[in-house]
Amino acid sequence: MTDSLTIRRPDDWHLHFRDDAVMKGVVPFTARQFARAIVMPNLSPPVTSVEGCAAYRDRIRAAVPQGVDFTPLMTAYLTDDVEGDELARGFAEGVFTAAKLYPAHATTGSAHGVTDIARIMPALEKMASVGMPLLIHGEVTDSHVDIFDREAVFIERTLTGLVRNLPELKIVFEHITTADAAAFVDVSGPNVAATITPQHLHINRNAMFTGGIRPHAYCLPVAKREVHRLALRKAATSGSTKYFLGTDSAPHAQSAKESACGCAGIFNAPYALESYVTVFDEEGALDRFEAFASENGPRFYGLPLNEGTITLERGETTVPDTVDANGTTIVPFHAGEILGWVYRG
Ligand code: DOR
Ligand code: ZN
Repeated sequence: MTDSLTIRRPDDWHLHFRDDAVMKGVVPFTARQFARAIVMPNLSPPVTSVEGCAAYRDRIRAAVPQGVDFTPLMTAYLTDDVEGDELARGFAEGVFTAAKLYPAHATTGSAHGVTDIARIMPALEKMASVGMPLLIHGEVTDSHVDIFDREAVFIERTLTGLVRNLPELKIVFEHITTADAAAFVDVSGPNVAATITPQHLHINRNAMFTGGIRPHAYCLPVAKREVHRLALRKAATSGSTKYFLGTDSAPHAQSAKESACGCAGIFNAPYALESYVTVFDEEGALDRFEAFASENGPRFYGLPLNEGTITLERGETTVPDTVDANGTTIVPFHAGEILGWVYRG
């Protein structure tokens, strides 16, 4: 039995840092475990300009604890009015690493998102021509579509056509939650990849209703049936280079989750690696963890692999009921549980 796993330093290819006081509280959790992270732009107002994004990056850098080596990789928020040339300029200047497509009203902070992908085709063509990746929240927003079907219907209505019409565009299908999404990624060409969160590997939709309503198991896309969770575990641990680590860590105050209309989002940054490695261990795939956590992402993005290593050891990590993020109390993923791995840095 492997009791200790040393891997190249990993990256988180999808998360939310927010801004201001909470941002200062959550950045250290991620910087402790990851060398780089792709930072989502769904602030209020969203991050759309090159200058605004560079300023946000400076604020994140200032929140990294002294002596810790951590690089935020920034993203542009796509709106109906996005200019391809502005995206390409931000990409060329090294400010934008990618751009994020939120269908309007799909999730938290998506009110300014795209109403119809046809409206941004010129910008997407420009992105394809300069090699800038498109990151997609893949859910339809049509309220007539059952919430558990919104990802599968998005593949049918939007993604299939986009990949067919613009095969040279690099696409990351973010936080996939269904067997349908994994099947789509598997059969698509090398320009289509996906991130998978720890929660979608650990929980199915029953977790939201165990003995009562459980707001801390609620995120978007929402967790699906067990058959989908099993398909995601298979995809993540398959050895396919198309899948990589992206936590979708999404901090919301405990009070905003425990409410009559609780926010979507799971805060998993503090114990992300312990959570993921538990899955790879359970699946007998510890030898495939390094590729998922530290190699497939940078290779897809065309970025260098990190230098240095981190070590995880078998042992007990007790996840607290709450964590403090610079004055905001947040309930972390796995709150109150004991995980079977310890992060040693
Ligand atoms: O659960 C989610 N929370 N899903 C998203 O897509 C956004 C995120 C957030 O920003 O809180
Ligand atoms: Zn997200």
